[in-house]
Amino acid sequence: MTPQYVAAIDQGTTSSRCIVFDRAGEIVAVAQREHRQIFPRPGWVEHDAEEIWENVQQVVQEALRSAGTDTAGLAAVGITNQRETTVVWDRATGRPVANALVWQDTRTGPLLRELETAYGEELFRTRTGLPLATYFAGPKLRWLLDEVDGLRERAERGEVLFGTMDSWLIWKLTGEHVTDVTNASRTMLMDLATLAWAPELLDAMGVPAAMLPEIRSSAEVYGTATGVLAGVPVASALGDQQAALFGQTCFQPGEAKCTYGTGSFLLLNTGASPVPSTHGLLTTVAYRIKGQPPAYALEGAIAVTGSLVQWLRDNLGLISTAAEVEELARTVDDNGGCYVVPAFSGLFAPHWRSDARGVIAGLTGYITKGHLARAVLEASAWQTREVVDAMNADSDVALRRLRVDGGMTANGLLMQFLADVLDVPVVRSRITETTCLGAAYAAGLAVGFWPDLATLRAQWRSDAQWEPTMAPELREQELRQWHKAVQRTLDWVD
Ligand code: G3P
Repeated sequence: MTPQYVAAIDQGTTSSRCIVFDRAGEIVAVAQREHRQIFPRPGWVEHDAEEIWENVQQVVQEALRSAGTDTAGLAAVGITNQRETTVVWDRATGRPVANALVWQDTRTGPLLRELETAYGEELFRTRTGLPLATYFAGPKLRWLLDEVDGLRERAERGEVLFGTMDSWLIWKLTGEHVTDVTNASRTMLMDLATLAWAPELLDAMGVPAAMLPEIRSSAEVYGTATGVLAGVPVASALGDQQAALFGQTCFQPGEAKCTYGTGSFLLLNTGASPVPSTHGLLTTVAYRIKGQPPAYALEGAIAVTGSLVQWLRDNLGLISTAAEVEELARTVDDNGGCYVVPAFSGLFAPHWRSDARGVIAGLTGYITKGHLARAVLEASAWQTREVVDAMNADSDVALRRLRVDGGMTANGLLMQFLADVLDVPVVRSRITETTCLGAAYAAGLAVGFWPDLATLRAQWRSDAQWEPTMAPELREQELRQWHKAVQRTLDWVD
């Protein structure tokens, strides 16, 4: 029987999903499970990698069942993942040595200041395209090596292994210890030009090479799975934002997308060479297909967008489901002068201030929960505006429209506001699960299920477009207010 499907596993910040796609790139089945968010102290965020592995196995089985197929129906499986989240596990037992440190975790702030004093920021920025920020995996790994008893010695002896979530899952599925270039580009340990671990950076970060995975392309067969996916080639790995760029088929330089999930990430394909940013963006690898040159991207990473809506639901109890935020926001005509800047993990692009803390600005007795809900949604749009301004400044070519995807794009009020504040059309792809689609596409290409990029591109469709309607004076006035509110998050610091 010829396999009819490709599956993708998306190991995200709040949940793990498995989606089965057919040859037309249509969704056949979806299964999803949330995992615990562990907050041991303010600013610390951890995940249990064992719990995640259990969930991944469950969602794979559920998705196959609901697609009415089994492993024989799958041509390949692709992996996509929350990036930067750092796992160390025991090579012999397969057990994590500690909870995974999540990309949102800010505990490495003091360590970064030491690294800056010792080596200067330029070393890291020029070699890796990344600023010294708590976001990235290398400093998290260093923290574990310093803090977990005996870990450094064990790492030097090759007894424990490091990986981001892609590596962890591929190792669990196939026994191979590998990562792909997109995930490796988020560690601060890989040289962007050579796409290899850089010995000087390993020395500076204090990381033993023996614990690192092999860096491979994003679309190739890493091994054959056992267990729930027995016999299926594991044939792609991409960080989730790069996977979304791939799923949006942004294969040409100048094409960009923004994915609205826990955070939001705008990636612009810049072609075959890395473009350094002078305006607070990241330079990163977009993807690499085996045997071909890599594609690079400029990225505007925003830490908190969807998770601000979750905070409104879980911490403040103002809504009972995330979708209700739109209804609540529609009870008022505007934000009533209220702005929320969610610097929960400091501020990411374009500020890179790990020490910033969130504010609600402009409060008066007039403000209702409706205004607050509106300000929460508007925060996603204003943060996007800041990264688009940086991108326009870095690339010299103004963005003319923005492709969007992710859960929050179901929110029509937000999408209209986004078009208004960016002053460009916002186009939503018909398949909003572009992260999984991108991982499936890359895996399918690797095994010949799809012949080429042109075939994938021909499958892309949009289902909605929002045009800007806001008066320019109002946009400028609101932007000034937003900048003032952002300034307050920086002023908060001692
Ligand atoms: O860099 C962090 C990013 O990969 C997380 O994405 O969709 O899990 O919030 P998401």
